[in-house]
Amino acid sequence: MNLLFVASECTPFIKTGGLADVIGAVPKALAAEGVSVRVLIPAYPALSDHIASGTQVAQFDDLFGGRARIVAAQADGLDLLLLDAPHLYDRAGSIYLGPDGQDWHDNDLRFAALSYAGAQIGVGCLDNWTPDVINAHDWQAGLVPAYLRQHDGPTPPVVMTIHNIAFQGVFDATRLGALGLNADMFTPDGVEYYGKISFLKAGIALSQKVTTVSPTYVAELLTPDFGMGLDGLLRARQSDLSGILNGIDLDVWNPATDPALVATYSAKSMKGKARNKAEVMSRFGLTDGDGPLFCVVSRMTSQKGLDMLLDCLDDLVGHGAKLALLGSGEPGLERAFIDASNRYAGSVGTIIGYDEDLSHLMQAGSDAILIPSRFEPCGLTQLYGLRYGTLPVVARTGGLADTVIDANEAALLADCATGFQFAPITSTMFAHTIARACALYQQPKIWGAMMRRAMRHPVGWDLSAAAYLDVYTAAQES
Ligand code: ADP
Ligand code: GLC
Repeated sequence: MNLLFVASECTPFIKTGGLADVIGAVPKALAAEGVSVRVLIPAYPALSDHIASGTQVAQFDDLFGGRARIVAAQADGLDLLLLDAPHLYDRAGSIYLGPDGQDWHDNDLRFAALSYAGAQIGVGCLDNWTPDVINAHDWQAGLVPAYLRQHDGPTPPVVMTIHNIAFQGVFDATRLGALGLNADMFTPDGVEYYGKISFLKAGIALSQKVTTVSPTYVAELLTPDFGMGLDGLLRARQSDLSGILNGIDLDVWNPATDPALVATYSAKSMKGKARNKAEVMSRFGLTDGDGPLFCVVSRMTSQKGLDMLLDCLDDLVGHGAKLALLGSGEPGLERAFIDASNRYAGSVGTIIGYDEDLSHLMQAGSDAILIPSRFEPCGLTQLYGLRYGTLPVVARTGGLADTVIDANEAALLADCATGFQFAPITSTMFAHTIARACALYQQPKIWGAMMRRAMRHPVGWDLSAAAYLDVYTAAQES
């Protein structure tokens, strides 16, 4: 099977969150299933070396306001198709936001172009390769099936994958013509969404199959609380909707070989973990103690529930625990954690920024990772935590609920606990659960057994890759 991925990010080239990790990892897992995947992403400045060394395979005289081309390049085990459109993507800074911190003013055109190029590949614009199925990821690729609908002639089926329904790509209806969409696409069955255009809505309405990234998130998406305005449409498409749990790249995230660690370790020989802990403590200015070291590696937005962590800091420090936080996002939250590091100097350390290597070191050196998300389609940091023996303390929602087994009495007796869950998702329950984790940490035998069990928990892609293949096959048959 030939498969085209269309997405706005891909590890290790360009990443703002978990989407990139998934796009970088799944093609390798699908290769083992006999699927050949090519990944279409925008040629942002970070891709310039690959543009220079790649081969042009298609061109557009005018792609939403400028010349553009598709350049094929092999890199990091991936077969990339880079959409080189300097007028849209050759910009310094964030891939989604301008220097003023707001969305780029032309994000509709930037990602319509990505979707349009994906659709063109679907209908044969490359010489020797046409996909049997297209997998469009998140709103940035949502218009792929819309452009395919406008094509006369056979088109491949599309699977739309929702990584986060909070981002829907909603734009003014007056943009229809500029986006190259015909007037008859502006209907409730097409791109129309409460009088506006929604890229994600279009993707959900017009694709043959729809997936999201965990079984619990599927169930949540069908409710008004989590569906964020799209629950009605998703209920209507329920028979074509499935939840396939994310995995992680076991080569990139492997404590036995990870070059970002100061010492490697494994479930059989855990000694190295302590050296990583010492390094994290020193990098975050934390003083020694006999409590656990908690970490957070996260975008700082209301989704991630870090305001609740602020409410818990008195308790956390009171239990003798330490906190190392790496993140960036909402300025108010950034400031609050910097203030907290001053207030609880030596016990709370904050680094504002994005640092891939440091995130690996923190997964290795911490005792537990805190993830109090209000909603979490899947979440990857708890999976990295499991793999590194860093027990996840998570809100019971989405993929967090599906991947962590709470250390309640029954699970401890049955030797199956791998972390801690809390619900309802409130500061009070979070504080209570942090206290539970601190207490269990003082029982090294139980904690050690949980660490080793967490490290053995299957977090790879093999099962999920097979599930994706089933969906692609079903899309071809529908
Ligand atoms: P989301 O995609 O909603 O941000 P995920 O848990 O799926 O959440 O993925 C987040 C990814 O981004 C993980 O790989 C995590 O390690 C990484 N990450 C988040 N914030 C940072 C940061 N400040 N520095 C380095 N990596 C980060
Ligand atoms: C989104 C979600 C996150 C998920 C990631 C990859 O960014 O917020 O929960 O793990 O996509 O699917």
